Amino acid sequence: MKSSLIIELASRPRRNRKNEGIRRLVRETAVTPSDLILPLFVVEGRDQEIPIESMPGCFRLSPDRILGIAAEAAALGVPAVALFPALEEGLKDPAASESWNPDGLLQRTVKMLKGEFPELLVITDVAMDPYSSDGHDGLVRDGKILNDPTLEILARMAVSQAEAGADMVAPSDMMDGRVGFIREALDRSGHAEVGILAYTAKYASAFYGPFRDALDSAPKSGDKKTYQMDPANSREALREVLLDEAEGADIVMVKPALPYLDVISAVRGATDLPVAAYNVSGEYAMIKAAASQGWLDEEAAVNEVLLAIKRAGADMILSYFALDFARRCQ
Ligand code: PBG
Repeated sequence: MKSSLIIELASRPRRNRKNEGIRRLVRETAVTPSDLILPLFVVEGRDQEIPIESMPGCFRLSPDRILGIAAEAAALGVPAVALFPALEEGLKDPAASESWNPDGLLQRTVKMLKGEFPELLVITDVAMDPYSSDGHDGLVRDGKILNDPTLEILARMAVSQAEAGADMVAPSDMMDGRVGFIREALDRSGHAEVGILAYTAKYASAFYGPFRDALDSAPKSGDKKTYQMDPANSREALREVLLDEAEGADIVMVKPALPYLDVISAVRGATDLPVAAYNVSGEYAMIKAAASQGWLDEEAAVNEVLLAIKRAGADMILSYFALDFARRCQ
């Protein structure tokens, strides 16, 4: 072997990787706490911090504890939280009627948060599943998930969240006509300033398992394949983008994030609306599980994942790692 061989090469990409100085200058993408939205699980009570087994480091928190975490998130520069209520089984029914209770757990939490932190953006989910005794996102009749009859429920839910002070509502059931119907309901009830973060391309994914554990919201029968998208499809995502845009969405979202980077990129190219991506519970659990075995460096893996999602075209990322990441940026 001749170790002194030097060849003439006009282009040597390694020159731009030579030291941290040049690497910083040529870096194309950066993630900051400003890009992140922190999802939080709310549970009834005081001083409650109930661990979620399949999401180590995440908890179901009572509203007073939510305030504490939100204060920390805001201080670290995380601009938004997304709230998901974990209800006791006794409050669930087939029509999800607890979802529009003005004194419901979610509504009280939103009121409290907005009272304390008016500048923190509060996003609420509009879907029946956390409130439904069937564990589905829509009304169920004879084993079928009904599209149109569910709309009135979603409109009531969204308006009730807006009255509580939510800044944005996030219809997440992936059924048809949601964004337009909710937009109209919000406008008619005097909530034209409340935005819509549309779950535009949400796939029927295996990566939601830990979230369903957190809320005890897994479907009691069947699956969600008649409403959530087939993981095999990406052109269909663009069709959903056009519809949500026409119906008045303010932000479009792709979910999950990591297995769908191509979809994030395609959606970015198809719309001028801001694009969000949801780094979901299963993506969180995978990293946590591997890191706890010593098989992955958690910090490095999280940084790489968030960066990849941003590089693919997401303007903002919902992530259970948001707080950890923001703490490290201090
Ligand atoms: C329900 C909803 C789900 C998630 C967000 N909203 C679960 C589902 O569709 O079954 C999943 C989020 C996650 O896994 O982190 N409408």
